[in-house]
Amino acid sequence: MSVESAALVYFSPTGTTKAVLSKIGEGLASKLHHIDITTEDRENIVVDDSLAIIGIPVYAGRIPPVAVQRLKRLSGTCPCVCVAVYGNREVDDALLELKNLVTERGFKMIAAGSFIGQHSFNTAERPLADGRPDSSDDALAVNFGEGIAAKLARNDLSEPAVPGNFPYKPNGPSLGGAPVTVADSCDLCGECEASCPTHAIKITDGVVVTQPDECIGCFACVQACPTDARVFPATERLEKVRQWLFDTCKARKEPVTYI
Ligand SMILES: Cc1cc2nc3c(=O)[nH]c(=O)nc-3n(C[C@H](O)[C@H](O)[C@H](O)COP(=O)(O)O)c2cc1C
Repeated sequence: MSVESAALVYFSPTGTTKAVLSKIGEGLASKLHHIDITTEDRENIVVDDSLAIIGIPVYAGRIPPVAVQRLKRLSGTCPCVCVAVYGNREVDDALLELKNLVTERGFKMIAAGSFIGQHSFNTAERPLADGRPDSSDDALAVNFGEGIAAKLARNDLSEPAVPGNFPYKPNGPSLGGAPVTVADSCDLCGECEASCPTHAIKITDGVVVTQPDECIGCFACVQACPTDARVFPATERLEKVRQWLFDTCKARKEPVTYI
């Protein structure tokens, strides 16, 4: 079969998952249709393309729970590719969890991959997969897209094995706290409010109000703010995690594909 149109479906608060999926799509040479579920509120999302490439970031070795909720609103019967993007620590059970979830939604997984994206906790002092995906990752993603197109051209819909264990590891604890807005730097543009996957940010009477209990620590608002007014306070837990990741995940990991 040929891939006339492919849907790129992603939950991607800081944009790396979207970037990886876009490169895989380039290799397919098809019409690409973006379905961004990062802040999506629709109850039903029907995918009627000839292929779906579905991507999520790894949070504590799992799919972020809010992304699970969004993925459960998808349905489709086409072949699909599962992609987990992670910050150079581990994928753990996220790819298996994604495969199981999309299979329940009617899709047929025919390929999968894990790719590396700059860690949301990256800082200049403690770089974590800084600048990834880079040109080498991009080339591998395009090549993966070409491999998927070739597999479909052979009418091969076989399901590759993916790593992971069931029962899955438990979801990670909250980072404690949420980003705050430095009022002097904020021009109330609303980018933070629009970027928040859980709608935890509301601008009311000229003040940016964040519900800390709803914050998932994804850093979308910090990245989206054009004036650098959104700052995640360096809580003891966040700093400990940053240091641990910096100390233990220095060695560069490479994308792995299953086809
Ligand atoms: C709360 C949280 C937990 C994370 N947990 C992991 C993890 O377990 N393993 C890992 O390698 N990266 C982890 N990351 C890093 C993200 O997977 C990585 O930054 C990814 O590229 C973000 O995707 P996005 O840019 O599409 O939002 C975590 C990031 C956040 C915000």
